[in-house]
Amino acid sequence: MDHKEGMYKVRDLALAEEGRRLIDWAESRMPVMMALRAKYAETQPLKGYRIAGCLHVTKETAVLVRTLAAAGAEVSWSGCNPLSTHDAVAAALADEGINIYAWHGLSVEDFYWCIDQTLLINPNLTLDDGADLIFTVHNKYPELVQTIIGGTEETTTGVHRLRAMADDGALNYPVIAVNDAETKWDFDNVYGTGQSTLDGIIRATSVMLAGKNFVVAGYGHCGKGVALRAKGMGANVIVTEVKPTAALKATLEGMRVMEMDEAAKHGDVFVTATGIKDVIVKRHFESMKDGAIVCNTGHYDCEINIADLEAIASGKREIRNSNEEYVTSDGRRIYLLAQGRLVNLAAAEGHPSEVMDMSFANQFMSQIRLAEMHKSGEPWENKVYDIPAEQDQEIARLKLDTMSIGIDELTPEQIEYMDNYAAGT
Ligand code: ADE
Repeated sequence: MDHKEGMYKVRDLALAEEGRRLIDWAESRMPVMMALRAKYAETQPLKGYRIAGCLHVTKETAVLVRTLAAAGAEVSWSGCNPLSTHDAVAAALADEGINIYAWHGLSVEDFYWCIDQTLLINPNLTLDDGADLIFTVHNKYPELVQTIIGGTEETTTGVHRLRAMADDGALNYPVIAVNDAETKWDFDNVYGTGQSTLDGIIRATSVMLAGKNFVVAGYGHCGKGVALRAKGMGANVIVTEVKPTAALKATLEGMRVMEMDEAAKHGDVFVTATGIKDVIVKRHFESMKDGAIVCNTGHYDCEINIADLEAIASGKREIRNSNEEYVTSDGRRIYLLAQGRLVNLAAAEGHPSEVMDMSFANQFMSQIRLAEMHKSGEPWENKVYDIPAEQDQEIARLKLDTMSIGIDELTPEQIEYMDNYAAGT
């Protein structure tokens, strides 16, 4: 482990060159971020701001970190999941002078130690994926709230909890819900999760998906993306849901919908994408077929009850990377991928750079918005704020430009027609 007090702790600084090449590759696929970097490197809107971030340390995240730094911020970083850090990327960032505390496979205790270290810069902005950093500030270092002007949150799970916190009056600084930008949830959550989850399953198993019964728990944006991609690869997709409208949508989109108690008997591959705990529990493991593959793509590792699996297993072994074989007392083999942590980041590389380009453009612009709010001298309330609609359209337009895709423009007559409530048949 390479450790420099108050600066970084990463697996191996010698991996920096490999990390730089990975980041270069991501930059070549993230033109919106590169355009924003060039623009804001000139104006330095984040100069004088200290940002603590807690978000998966991937090549795409490195592009975000470099862009925040180019816009003038001092940045400190930790990963937001014990298994998602790419050690080469972490080494490259440490080598570039970023305060970073992250390595693959850290313990839960080390996970929180890393967050603690990022707070040593005394941040005035926070950037989260899953809200662990904000929770740590509120629960362990409440005095930091005096100087923190705001934060941003990347995920559905994190935003959900922060809204609950705000409703209880327990949120002590304003947060922007990056997840709720259309250019985030309607792309990253659907197409990003769809592709990267299948990527993780395939890297961990190399199984053929065509013809398999592929069970997706949850038909929110992420579950929908996974189901669509699995269907596209020829799997027979089964969806389980608790929300009637989502179940109906899945049905009309050609998925079979049933209760998990029934799906457990049929599935060859199971993916949880609900954000809820105990989606797959003992009675489900007990009725699964020999050879069933089980994994999770939700933020936290509580969707699959691993203690229940351990309880019915007579033994386990690592059969290949990110793939553990559990043998039940009646001799069935059940394969758990990535220890029940998000399979797309733990067994693969997370969402592709192209889609993170838009998600991280929203993160970056939101951090700038918070700094601008601070400079204006008019503080916001301690609430969860949405992304402005104009930011969404601006990012989508930039993305289209980089793809050389032109779109039409409404004429003044068309605009007048749209708004004219006197016109009818
Ligand atoms: N979340 C999902 N995919 C990601 C990626 N490639 N980088 C950072 N966070 C992610």
